[in-house]
Amino acid sequence: MQEKIDLLVDEINSFTANGFKDAEEFRLKYLSKNGKVSVLFDEFKEVAAEQKRALGKPLNELKNLAQNKLNEIQEKFTQTSVKENNSIDYTLPGDAYQTGSRHPLSLIRNQIIDIFNKIGFSVADGPEIEDDWHNFSALNFPEEHPARDMQDTFFVEENWALRTHTSSIQIRVMEKQTPPLRLLAPGRVYRNEAISARAHCQFHQVEGFYIDKNVSFADLKQTLLYFSKEMFGSQTKIRLRPSFFPFTEPSAEMDVSCMFCNQKGCNICKHSGWVEILGCGMIDPNVFTNCNINPDEYSGFAFGMGIERIAMLKYKINDLRLFFENDVQFLKQFSKVI
Ligand code: PHE
Repeated sequence: MQEKIDLLVDEINSFTANGFKDAEEFRLKYLSKNGKVSVLFDEFKEVAAEQKRALGKPLNELKNLAQNKLNEIQEKFTQTSVKENNSIDYTLPGDAYQTGSRHPLSLIRNQIIDIFNKIGFSVADGPEIEDDWHNFSALNFPEEHPARDMQDTFFVEENWALRTHTSSIQIRVMEKQTPPLRLLAPGRVYRNEAISARAHCQFHQVEGFYIDKNVSFADLKQTLLYFSKEMFGSQTKIRLRPSFFPFTEPSAEMDVSCMFCNQKGCNICKHSGWVEILGCGMIDPNVFTNCNINPDEYSGFAFGMGIERIAMLKYKINDLRLFFENDVQFLKQFSKVI
């Protein structure tokens, strides 16, 4: 047995490896289950007890020798193979780093907030799941009003729904704070509508409201004119058309002069020269009473606009669905817009 050990020591010492492949060959030949070293260990089990002492040591040394040799070969050729494949061309230009960009809806929302910040409006927030009181009842929606109908509203459970407009935030703020209040409330809203280029079941609104003593319709009109000029350019004109919302009296819808054709008439304004952008009005006294604000002491105006609508006009986007698809080709176009 000692002879076999000596023979293997010589063999291992003189084994020369030329590449990484030889490491595996070496392992199979000596150290695998049926390799020469392992076979000697099997034989060792049969050796008479008195010889075991003498043979055990050299046998272990043989095993260590083989293991070290294998490590050596592996190390040697892993290093050189990395070196050999290290064909990096340092003169090539680097890969451009792809930074993300703001979503067009965020850009428009931030722009709206900035415009109103300048005249003292700050930002308020509210929950997307609302109870009937904040979304409807406190806003003076009669019990049988069609907007409460299952077709328009996503109900989560009885009395709880995904908010259908950001007007619910008016109520939340008025319940907790006392006037004067000058706030802007941006957020996502939900309506049970079929998805098309012009309608979606989720979209975004910005609500604005100003409550103080002696706030008048003229204040509302002037505020909206200021906003429209800031948003669409100083040439912009506005017009208010009578409308109806349960929570405002009087109520109006506001159009801005078409920014695409300068009111000469085009497809976007349907040849009318005007495009509708928001709903507004003087806050109904019933709404104040519902929030424990005295309508004889305070008055206020409110308005609400769709962010998608403004973004579509600003960026000439003709399909609402693009805002929700996360198509990088679409989103990339806004990376230069601050
Ligand atoms: N909440 C209304 C809507 O979603 C918009 C609005 C807000 C109208 C505030 C008047 C005052 O259509």
